[in-house]
Amino acid sequence: MPTSFTHSLNHLLTIPFFLFFFITSSTSSDTLTATQALRTNQTLLSQNQTFVLGFFRGSNTNYYLGIWYNNITPQTIVWVANRDNPIDNSTGYLKIGDDGNFLLLNSSGKTAWSSNATTAKTPILQLLETGNLVLQDSDQSNNNNNNYLWQSFDYPTDTLLPGMKMGWNLDSNTEKHLTSWKITGEDPSSGDYTFKLDYRGLPEIFLRRNQTIIYRSGPWNGERFSGVPEMQHDTDSIVFSFSDDGHSVFYSFSIGKSSLLSRLTVTSDSDGELQRRTWIQSSESWNKFWYAPADQCDHYRECGPYGVCDNNASPVCTCMQGFSPKNPVAWNLRDGSGGCVRKTDLDCPTDKFLHLENMKLPETTTVFVNKSMTLTECGSMCERNCSCTAYANIDITNGGSGCVMWFGQLFDLRNYPSGGQDLFVRLSAADIGSSGSKHHKAEAIGISLSVAVIVLGLLAICYLRKKKQRRGSVIHRSHDLLISEVVPSRGHSGERNMDDLELPMFDFNTLTMATNNFSQDNKLGQGGFGSVYRGSLIEGPDIAVKRLSKDSGQGIEEFKNEVKLIVKLQHRNLVRLLGCCIEKDEKMLIYEYMENRSLDSILFDKAKRPLLDWKKRFNIICGIARGLLYLHQDSRFRIIHRDLKASNILLDNEMNPKISDFGMARIFGSNQTEANTLRVVGTYGYMSPEYAMDGNFSIKSDVFSFGVLVLEIITGKKNRGFYYANDELNLLGNVWKQWNEGTALEVIDQSIGNSYTESEVLRCIHVGLLCVQERAEDRPTMSSVVLMLSSEVSLMPRPRSPGFSLGRNHPETDSSSSNQDKTWSVNQVTVTMLNAR
Ligand SMILES: *[C@@H]1O[C@H](CO)[C@@H](O)[C@H](O)[C@H]1NC(C)=O
Ligand SMILES: *[C@@H]1O[C@H](CO)[C@@H](O)[C@H](O)[C@H]1NC(C)=O
Ligand SMILES: *[C@@H]1O[C@H](CO)[C@@H](O)[C@H](O)[C@H]1NC(C)=O
Ligand SMILES: *[C@@H]1O[C@H](CO)[C@@H](O)[C@H](O)[C@H]1NC(C)=O
Ligand SMILES: *[C@@H]1O[C@H](CO)[C@@H](O)[C@H](O)[C@H]1NC(C)=O
Ligand SMILES: *[C@@H]1O[C@H](CO)[C@@H](O)[C@H](O)[C@H]1NC(C)=O
Ligand SMILES: *[C@@H]1O[C@H](CO)[C@@H](O)[C@H](O)[C@H]1NC(C)=O
Ligand SMILES: *[C@@H]1O[C@H](CO)[C@@H](O)[C@H](O)[C@H]1NC(C)=O
Repeated sequence: MPTSFTHSLNHLLTIPFFLFFFITSSTSSDTLTATQALRTNQTLLSQNQTFVLGFFRGSNTNYYLGIWYNNITPQTIVWVANRDNPIDNSTGYLKIGDDGNFLLLNSSGKTAWSSNATTAKTPILQLLETGNLVLQDSDQSNNNNNNYLWQSFDYPTDTLLPGMKMGWNLDSNTEKHLTSWKITGEDPSSGDYTFKLDYRGLPEIFLRRNQTIIYRSGPWNGERFSGVPEMQHDTDSIVFSFSDDGHSVFYSFSIGKSSLLSRLTVTSDSDGELQRRTWIQSSESWNKFWYAPADQCDHYRECGPYGVCDNNASPVCTCMQGFSPKNPVAWNLRDGSGGCVRKTDLDCPTDKFLHLENMKLPETTTVFVNKSMTLTECGSMCERNCSCTAYANIDITNGGSGCVMWFGQLFDLRNYPSGGQDLFVRLSAADIGSSGSKHHKAEAIGISLSVAVIVLGLLAICYLRKKKQRRGSVIHRSHDLLISEVVPSRGHSGERNMDDLELPMFDFNTLTMATNNFSQDNKLGQGGFGSVYRGSLIEGPDIAVKRLSKDSGQGIEEFKNEVKLIVKLQHRNLVRLLGCCIEKDEKMLIYEYMENRSLDSILFDKAKRPLLDWKKRFNIICGIARGLLYLHQDSRFRIIHRDLKASNILLDNEMNPKISDFGMARIFGSNQTEANTLRVVGTYGYMSPEYAMDGNFSIKSDVFSFGVLVLEIITGKKNRGFYYANDELNLLGNVWKQWNEGTALEVIDQSIGNSYTESEVLRCIHVGLLCVQERAEDRPTMSSVVLMLSSEVSLMPRPRSPGFSLGRNHPETDSSSSNQDKTWSVNQVTVTMLNAR
């Protein structure tokens, strides 16, 4: 965290004049004149002392000139002068130069940063009560005419303060926007995230990560941004305003009657987040008043063209009436970005318009705008112009006014329970139904009925084809079949008694082609029951095909059970099973493909390990916990994974964890929590003592494996289990030892660096140790684990010593401890070592 020195200039008046640039006089504490200098240990206060100008140190130890709130801790910096030109030494200072500009000089007297203003005769620098640092001629400073030669409000950094404007001056073609810190709260240099107004079409504001849009506000509708229905016009607190008068387009806000402190910031938190914070005096903290993106539907173009995102639906993406998913396989995988296509092509003279309510208007960068037209005029103009695809009012106040028309595809729509706007979309008369939005329900039922009919038809075709294939030798080259066969599991996974509908079947030849004939190049790894291949379909996302080895010993029944079970399990922290293929004597499982492969391939790889910073690791720990909780409690069945380990945690392209390989999970009756079996299957290092020794497993054995995983994720080290070659303690023993000696933080993986939250790491180690306790009954359930991780529990029990923490003394110790793939015998129980990948 930056440190600060807060000595007001007033104090310096008593200091002897030994500085080169010294303070000769100071009529008030809020100005700096040409004869004065501001050193790194001095500050300038605003008139009523709300804000301070001074120097602070970034985490990179550089010095920056900035403005922050005076009496608020932690120090909240709202503006930085030299974010990309720091001075590296505390002997730098600020002064007004001979040309009337103010300069920031480094220790060797060279200009690191300067204001660009025209020459002033008697310049003075003043920090206003609003937090605006202004440079003006002193003979003008008292007539309040806002004619500043330079003002910091013209150069926003990451924060918009009340009265500050962001947007465009179209006359001078200049622009102001917000840019995040490199690391919010630590490194003020320009970061990857910007919040910038686009004035083309109907203006809206975009949050970008580098050049990529990640969120858009939606256009201003007279009251609020179309995408922020929760924005309330409240003259007492925050008053939002938006101006678009042909000469300038800008957004700003002010504080009404109250004396509230509020700021809008673009942060590097959560991979780019806009936050409005307000200061709560009673709790002395910045309350997160609003933020975006806040939910899945806030993600830019989440549902592609013509897709409508509804955060209260599951899945969130739906197609508008008259449209169907462009890419059903991807759609089924909850990837809506391909969007929707028309069911019936348009035919201009007969087209109709569908009335959608409570919408966030589609992207408006390339629209036609006329502010004086009425909705009726707008509608008839759109109707007459065959390339117009939708229209709406611009302003919703006073019954609505203005006309915005879209040409081409509609992007980034979402709907709200309330607070959205009306939108009229061109549809073929055949798709319009009897009329408008009131008939959505009937329409939806109609659609699902017709889908069901199509599906049944396809199944019949499949059946016939299979029969035919058995007799003859027809070779399928079609992918259409594959795609349509996947459709059933969407929306039909529920209560139907038709096994086939719950078990999407893939075509063998299609899989052969997708995996390039199961080539070595496509092989992702060797799993417990066979090899896994990457497959590419002609259209749609990649898939992972698990081809079960013929000698896996897993019968058709076991196999079918696994498939049926997993197809029903849907959680964002579980790998989704898309279907299976049983053909000849081949059995295959088709999963969604995970970009970043498995956790162990990154965590235990020296080169890749730094990809996982603490934030990602914490996210992975929490994700696994939620996925496991779902398996244990929330799914319709009670499922014990029995083989939880780093190689069974897959990571998607954003490093979100997904638990895979439920191959060994069994369905339990709701009152049966323990089972005793002679066939113990699990992986060395992750097995709880009672499971390894006696073959007893329960949800608490999964908790043990989870605990091992947590400690592995924190330390980046593999747990070698109870079987260990030399005198060293194993991972659990080592963490336990450090914990008791109060040096637990030393176990943290070096490659995480210093950017972690101590309390979070300690909490995770604590949870990990609780999970690996020797006695199953001492270990917490996954629901308490999730609570503890979310820090909703402030008092956690003290952990007792972990299972398998001792060093050698084990009778079967041998020196080749690294060999993990062998069969191991404990108390007459055979443990099948699986090193699944
Ligand atoms: C501020 O720093 C200067 C040297 O840069 C030093 O001479 C002066 O005593 C310091 N003033 C205070 C108030 O610490
Ligand atoms: C400063 O505070 C005084 C007294 O509370 C108030 O009259 C004055 O308007 C304030 N000045 C500014 C610039 O806020
Ligand atoms: C700052 O830099 C100057 C010149 O390089 C050097 O003399 C001085 O010791 C440095 N001061 C600090 C505090 O590092
Ligand atoms: C001061 O800035 C000049 C010009 O940017 C640079 O060459 C010099 O190295 C800097 N001196 C120190 C001590 O940082
Ligand atoms: C000042 O002007 C220079 C040269 O025109 C430019 O590179 C620099 O970005 C300007 N600085 C500010 C703070 O506007
Ligand atoms: C943004 O661009 C910079 C420079 O090209 C790159 O280093 C950085 O990783 C990018 N950030 C993100 C989040 O993609
Ligand atoms: C906007 O529409 C009004 C009313 O139809 C019309 O008089 C005006 O010329 C239009 N303005 C533009 C810029 O098209
Ligand atoms: C439809 O509107 C577009 C955009 O304003 C315009 O370029 C085009 O000429 C119009 N077409 C007709 C037939 O009016």
